[in-house]
Parts: sequence; structure tokens; C-alpha cells
Amino acid sequence: MHRILRKRVLGPNLVELEVEAPLVAAKAKPGQFLIVRLHEKGERIPLTLADWDAQAGTVTLVVQMIGKTTYQLGQEYHVGDAICDVVGPLGNPSEIRHFGTVVCVGGGVGIAPIFPIARALQEAGNHVIGVVGARTKDLLFWLDRMERVCHELYVTTDDGSFGRKGVVTEPLRDILSARRVDHIWAIGPAIMMKFAALTAQEFGVPITVSLNPIMVDGTGMCGACRVEVAGQTRFGCVDGPEFPGELVNWDLLLARLSAYKEEERCALEQYLAVKGSRL
Ligand SMILES: Cc1cc2nc3c(=O)[nH]c(=O)nc-3n(C[C@H](O)[C@H](O)[C@H](O)COP(=O)(O)OP(=O)(O)OC[C@H]3O[C@@H](n4cnc5c(N)ncnc54)[C@H](O)[C@@H]3O)c2cc1C
Ligand code: FES
Repeated sequence: MHRILRKRVLGPNLVELEVEAPLVAAKAKPGQFLIVRLHEKGERIPLTLADWDAQAGTVTLVVQMIGKTTYQLGQEYHVGDAICDVVGPLGNPSEIRHFGTVVCVGGGVGIAPIFPIARALQEAGNHVIGVVGARTKDLLFWLDRMERVCHELYVTTDDGSFGRKGVVTEPLRDILSARRVDHIWAIGPAIMMKFAALTAQEFGVPITVSLNPIMVDGTGMCGACRVEVAGQTRFGCVDGPEFPGELVNWDLLLARLSAYKEEERCALEQYLAVKGSRL
């Protein structure tokens, strides 16, 4: 069992949790993720290792409540409660080395996974340019953390309520037009990563994206997380989650992500019908 030691609301339907997981914290690396099961009958959901403290034996997760399980975690689990299973670290760590100038793009909840990558790239001696964005000011978080690990930070909101009005690909395009960039990381909604990859391709700059296909076991056995990269079938959990963005079949990923929309809608509706009064 994994106790929740700290919980903080970051924004509407967005929570940060610090969870006891000493074995995971001891081995965690940027780019890796966990699979969490809240209780014995719960579904398994993947969540990125947004931060960790090996000495304290804790991991930090940032969870966007979008469906039944993430609502349950965000609304019903509080400090002192325990999560049944936390499995990880899973997936391959990010390739961290000295590239030169790198841009780290985080969109929405993708700001959480981009943070430890930006930190590691800064520690490896890169000039790190951060670009983070969200739909609106209330959904922006960890700007202080990103400021600490980035030499420059650009912030956007779709509605212009904070920073530059627009989407993250706009400052990315300006940066790529103005100077030499050696590598880009982009993490966020699949559609954002797709357009970041197209922008990077225009300028011939390699880009790494972290794919978020539906996962079940997280260990390469079920095939749920199948993606197509460079025309080859790859499994997001064991071959990724990071892949070269220019080689991803984005249309297939987007189609597979919406394969269970109806079931997910029903599950959330049923959950809210029972728990709605507590939300
Ligand atoms: C490697 C990886 C890391 C992730 N890291 C984070 C994170 O740090 N924070 C965060 O808020 N979210 C993260 N996600 C997404 C998160 O796993 C889904 O939001 C969650 O599984 C949704 O479950 P649900 O029951 O609340 O919603 P549902 O209604 O079941 O699903 C809502 C949407 O979430 C996606 N989803 C559903 N089930 C899964 C699943 N088993 N695996 C992956 N995606 C699924 C689908 O696109 C679906 O349309 C990550 C996904 C992956 C693959
Ligand atoms: S989640 Fe089952 S193979 Fe990747």
C-alpha cells in the first residue's frame, strides 16, 4: 500500500499528489511512468513520474481528472489514504546528454512530465528553453519549477489570460526561426505533439515526444498501447514512451485514443451519478 503524504489542488480538475513509493523513487529517471491501481477492483492507469525524492522514498504525480479513475483519485483520495498498487518505474528513460540548445515544450498536464526532463537537460549542461502552455491561466502550474530549470521560459494560454495568447507551437516557431536549436522535447495532448512535430520538421530539428496510448499492463504483454513509428508497430510501454515525433503515425494514435469514448463516457456518467453530490 502506498500512502498519500501530500495533496495540492493545482487548478480545476488538476491535483498534485506526493505518494510513498520508496522502491520506485530509488530507481526513477526522467521520462518514466508508473501504473497505479487505486484499489483491488480498480483499473490500472499510467501516470508519469513528475518528480521523486529517493531519500524520502516518495514520488510526485500530477493528475488531470478526465474520467472515472482519475476523478476517483482526485476527489476521493486524501492525505493519509493509501493507493493499492504503484508499479514502476516503467518505460525507457529520456536520452539525457549534452545536445547544446534544447527546447522543452509542455502543454496542459504535459508540463509535469517535461519538468524532470528539462531539469536533467540543464544538469547535463544544455541551454534549456522552456515553452509551456494551457487553455487558460487557471490550468497553468509549476511555472516556478520550470523557471528554476530553464534558462528562458515562454508561457502561452489559448485565451490570453496569462502570457502570450495562442498555442505553444507559436513561440516554438519563433525560437526556431531566430536561432539554432539542437533538439526539442514536446509532451502534452497528442494533437499538440503532432503540431509540434510538424513545426520541428519544417526546420529540420529532431524532436522527441512522449506518447500516451491507452495502456493496460505496461510491460509489453497486452498490445493495448500499440503505436506506429517509422512504419513499424511499437509498444508505447516498453519501446517508449518517447519516440522521434517526426516518425509517429499521429492519425492512428488519435484514432486509437478515442476507441473507447462511449464506454469511458458511460463509466464517468455512472460514477458521477453516484458521487456527483460530493464533487
Ligand atoms: C505513459 C503515460 C503517462 C501518463 N501520464 C499522465 C500524468 O502524469 N497525468 C495525467 O493526468 N494523465 C497521464 N496519462 C493519461 C492517464 O493515464 C489517463 O488520463 C487515465 O488513464 C484516464 O483514466 P480515467 O478512467 O480517468 O478516464 P477514462 O474515461 O477511462 O479515459 C479518458 C481518456 O484517457 C485515456 N485513457 C484511458 N484509459 C487509459 C489507460 N489505461 N492508459 C492510458 N490512457 C488512458 C484515453 O485517451 C481516454 O479517452 C498518461 C498516459 C500514459 C500512457
Ligand atoms: S500496455 Fe500492454 S503492451 Fe503496452
